[in-house]
Amino acid sequence: MTTRILGTGSAIPDRVVNNQELETFLDTSDTWIQERTGIQSRHTATTETTTSLAVKACMQALEDAGKTPEEVDLILAATVSPDYTFPCLACEIQSALGAKQAAAYDINAACAGFLFALDSAAAYIQCGLYKNALIVGAEVLTKLLNWEDRSTCILFGDGAGAAFVAEEKTGVLAMMQGANGQKGMALYRQETAPDTPFRKTGIRGGAAVNYLEMSGQDVFRFAISQVPESIQQILEKTGWDKKEVDYYILHQANARIIQSIAKRLDEPEDKFPMNLTQFGNMSSASIPVLLDEMNKSGRLKRGDKIVLSGFGAGMTYGATTLVW
Ligand code: ACO
Repeated sequence: MTTRILGTGSAIPDRVVNNQELETFLDTSDTWIQERTGIQSRHTATTETTTSLAVKACMQALEDAGKTPEEVDLILAATVSPDYTFPCLACEIQSALGAKQAAAYDINAACAGFLFALDSAAAYIQCGLYKNALIVGAEVLTKLLNWEDRSTCILFGDGAGAAFVAEEKTGVLAMMQGANGQKGMALYRQETAPDTPFRKTGIRGGAAVNYLEMSGQDVFRFAISQVPESIQQILEKTGWDKKEVDYYILHQANARIIQSIAKRLDEPEDKFPMNLTQFGNMSSASIPVLLDEMNKSGRLKRGDKIVLSGFGAGMTYGATTLVW
């Protein structure tokens, strides 16, 4: 037995911000953003919170799977932008849904978070501890961005995507995960550290907010070398030839990264669906929102062979093969 995705859901804030709107307050242009990233617009939270988006996505995933909250064994929430440090997002979801039987906790693996949540759920189910799990990637990253820094704020959007997974005869076939902590400072956000009676904080400490900081080119280089390698490894582990793969569903960071990975794998670009044009980079939500779109539109068919691959701050990376 293995673990299969039986239902999906997603939630996106109402407010759309296109590149032209960014031009009104940033020294940037629609042409620059589209050429360098492929992004045309993103959605940003106004009244929505990480929790409200996550709960909506989870409710849809349960409905799609024909399950009730009371049936859920485990909730795993992947996020780097929760509403509270504690209680964790997964416990907030558990409370909102009334999923009284479920254990619940968060995973912080940045943009690889949803993939790691899926892998963790599959490992629990495989060892017999749980029969099912509700997994979600949810982010309001726009609250962590410096909106005067054109090299980062143009990239990200908010949203949540969820999946209900359970024990089945087919589904997840193989998983690999990795981390390269030595490259961690390529993409980081330092926690705010106010003064205490015993400690005076350093340069960054004490500020009201610390923003996301990124060395774009380091992240770019990491992604285009590590993701193809992860995918080759997972194909080998699964025993699939790349020609058998129907879709490579990758973290939606940047169209040029995805195109470069397709080229390195020598696979056609139409096997690499993208929604970043419309939504930007939604970190841990990007893969499950894309899965939900493809599921609900009928693009995914039962039996399709899929490779998922994510990479993110940490740096974290991983790849998973599954039969839809
Ligand atoms: N508009 C106009 N000009 C800009 C902008 C902007 N929004 N941002 C940067 N520039 C300028 C720079 O100031 C620089 O100007 P200069 O030559 O006068 O110094 C010039 O454009 C080139 O800047 P680079 O940083 O070299 O541009 P690059 O081609 O590397 O593109 C980008 C930047 C898009 C961030 C790219 O490095 C990238 O995509 N990296 C991957 C990062 C990523 O996707 N991160 C997402 C988060 S990570 C994750 O999801 C795991």
